[in-house]
Formats: sequence, C-alpha cells, structure tokens
Amino acid sequence: MTILWDSDPAAAQNYKFALGDRIEVVEVAQMVTRAMITNPQELLVIVGPDVDLHAASSLAEQVRSERPEVSVILLRRRLDVSVLAAALRAGFREVVASDDLTSLSSACKRSLDISHQLADIAGLAPTLEGKVIIVFNAKGGCGKTTIATNLSAYVASTGAKALLVDLDLAFGDVAISLQLRPVASVGDLVAMTGHIDAQGLASVVTKHDSGLDTVCAPSQPGEADRITGATVGEMLRVARRLYDYVIIDTPPAFSEHVLAALDMCDVAVLLATLDIPAVKNLRLTLDTLDLLGHPRDAQVVILNRSDAKVGLHTEDVVAAIKQPIAAMIPSSSHVPASVNRGVPIILDEPKHPVSVALRAFADKYIINAPASSLSASPRPDGPLAQTRRSVQQPSAPRHLFRRGVR
Ligand SMILES: Nc1ncnc2c1ncn2[C@@H]1O[C@H](COP(=O)(O)OP(=O)(O)OP(=O)(O)O)[C@@H](O)[C@H]1O
Ligand SMILES: [Mg+2]
Repeated sequence: MTILWDSDPAAAQNYKFALGDRIEVVEVAQMVTRAMITNPQELLVIVGPDVDLHAASSLAEQVRSERPEVSVILLRRRLDVSVLAAALRAGFREVVASDDLTSLSSACKRSLDISHQLADIAGLAPTLEGKVIIVFNAKGGCGKTTIATNLSAYVASTGAKALLVDLDLAFGDVAISLQLRPVASVGDLVAMTGHIDAQGLASVVTKHDSGLDTVCAPSQPGEADRITGATVGEMLRVARRLYDYVIIDTPPAFSEHVLAALDMCDVAVLLATLDIPAVKNLRLTLDTLDLLGHPRDAQVVILNRSDAKVGLHTEDVVAAIKQPIAAMIPSSSHVPASVNRGVPIILDEPKHPVSVALRAFADKYIINAPASSLSASPRPDGPLAQTRRSVQQPSAPRHLFRRGVR
C-alpha cells in the first residue's frame, strides 16, 4: 500500500493510474509517520502537490536520516529550479509534475527498485518498534498488577503511546484496577490469529481516561484456554509497531503466554517482596530465565513493600537472588485505596513516596534505558523460542523510527 500525503482525502482517485489501487491517503505529516510504523514494509511515500514545500522537505529529511531505504517522491503543479533545488537538498528521490501520471509511474518504479536494493544490501529490516516491558514474578500477590498499571499510566502521562496488556488471562485484574468496562479482550483476537493487524488490535483496545490503551483479559476465566502463545506473540508484534511502550501484566506462572512475551521483551521487571516464598520464587524465576537464555541486562528487580518489618532485609534478598535491586517501593495503605478508586496512585498522588519511587524507576529503566541485549536485534525466533521447544519436549504444557526511545 503506497502512502500518499495529500490534503484532498479523495486524491487516491487522481493517481490510481500511476500508483494502483492500494493507496493510503493521509492528511498530515504525523499520520505519514504513523502509517509508516503501521506498514513497515511500505517503501514508498508520495507527497501531493498542495502540501507545503517546507513541511514536505522536513518529512523527506526525517525519512532520509531515519528510514533511508524509503523513497519519498514529491509532486508539484509546476517544476521550477527553486523547487528542484529544495527537493535535492531535502533528499526526495524524484520530483514529478502532478499531472504527468506516466512519469509518476516510472518514477515510482525506479524509486522502489532503489529502495528494495537499499533494504536488501543494508539488511534494513524495518525496526519501527516500541519497547516491550513485562512485569513478572512466579508468585501471586506480590504487586505485578499494581506496578504494571502504575508504570503504564505514568508512561502514557508523558505523552507516549502506551498499551497495557493483561496476560493474566484467567484472573486478570487490569480492568478492575483501572475501573474499565471492556467490551472486547485478548480472547477476541483468537479468530484473527494469522492475520492480526492494526485494525484488529484496535478492535480489542479499551481506553483509560489517562490516555493509556489497554487490552484486557477475558471476563470468563475459561476463555483463557482457547488463547495460544501464537496469538499472544502475534498481538505483541503488531502492538510494538503501533505503540511506543507495550507493558505486560502477567499471571504468577510461566504460562505459554508469558514465555511468548518474554521472547520479545526489552525489559523484564521482576518483583520481589520481603517474604521467603517470594524470594525463593524470584530465585527460581531468575534461574529459569538463565536457562532460557534471557539476557541478564534485560532484567531489573523491584523490591515491593520494601519497608515491611518482617525480619527479612534487603541485603538478604540481594544475597539470595545475586542481583542488585533497581527500585524499592514502600508499603502504603494508599496503594490498595487507589486501586479501590480505580485511579493509579502515580497519577492520583504524584508526591506520594510510592509514586516517586515508581517514577524514578520508570524514567531510568524504561524511558531512558539503554538498549539491552534483547532489544539490540529483533528475534523472530529468539533463544527463548528455541529453548522452549527443547525444554518442553515431549510433555510440553499447552500452551519512523524507534527502537529504544523515539
Ligand atoms: N507497595 C504496596 N503497598 C501496599 N499494598 C500494595 C503494594 N503493592 C501492592 N499492594 C497490594 O497488594 C495486593 C496485591 O497486589 P497485586 O494485585 O498488584 O499483585 P499481583 O502480583 O498482581 O497478584 P496476582 O498474582 O494475584 O495477580 C493488592 O491489594 C495491592 O493493592
Ligand atoms: Mg495481578
């Protein structure tokens, strides 16, 4: 599908002869960027004759530096020296008179040939992907949902496009914690498996007042059984092309859905609390992640309820898990109170110590985090996927412009 930036929504008709039937008309520059993220395979952008030359040049410059394999062709009603000079400076691949459809057709063909060569030679697989962050511990009740909802709400409040996915498919609490009334859930994606696209994902998104998008768990626990790791993996691959941040809440188990998410996450936020079972489970979780080949530099540990006076200390946890603690979140009755109000404490009480600690964590380890070994390269069939296949045999349970910060 060719992306056509034109102020006339019916412009596709004018250029059908040269561009074919599959044209996506967008009216503003931001939508061009978004369309390129949604269709990362698309290598051709046409800028209509009425788009301001300065704005068009800014886009061409941005594409040249960030997606050099994409061709941008400029259409003008009149071609004069000043237009050609500006186009040359900005990096348009061709400039064509808007009424010369034969020339436009040839220009598209030439440009696409170059684009394909550039993409092949440079191995420029599109990597227009947001960060995927999973919040996990194999023990229940240690604060996964609390921390996932607060981190997501905070990231969304910074103006980023954030999606919170509830992979606790049987007993998910995201909807109730944010007082959402979802009309669709992950379960509705099962029928779309194999062809989930941006529209399909949007059809199961429930919006929160904060600007956060969510994909909630099914309302009936039984539905979880129908949802495979493949559906979850496909949903997350689509989601990370559409969102700056995809944050995942999890069940207290290494379900196939969790494994699918771990396979593509950039940051695994692992929770601990000051009780022996939670620490033991975190130790086992870290060992399992090692076994699965999950890189250590993609893992960060949060100690939740870090000030609980229960005889176990932070040093004991560090000694047991042999990992540093990235953040300590104090215990406070304001946390369950905020859940009962359906507003994340990080938005409701930004100065509360819990909010301050969570914000500092998000700033350092999510928003400004350097790329980890996981995020350094896309892993369609990553080490987890491969290892999972071997460890599960034979009794497997059923189961324009960013990477890093835009
Ligand atoms: N820092 C905190 N201070 C006080 N209460 C907290 C804190 N963090 C979480 N809680 C409370 O602990 C309870 C469990 O938290 P939460 O639901 O987030 O855990 P979970 O790991 O998602 O549990 P599950 O595994 O059952 O999904 C909730 O009532 C929550 O409000
Ligand atoms: Mg939970």
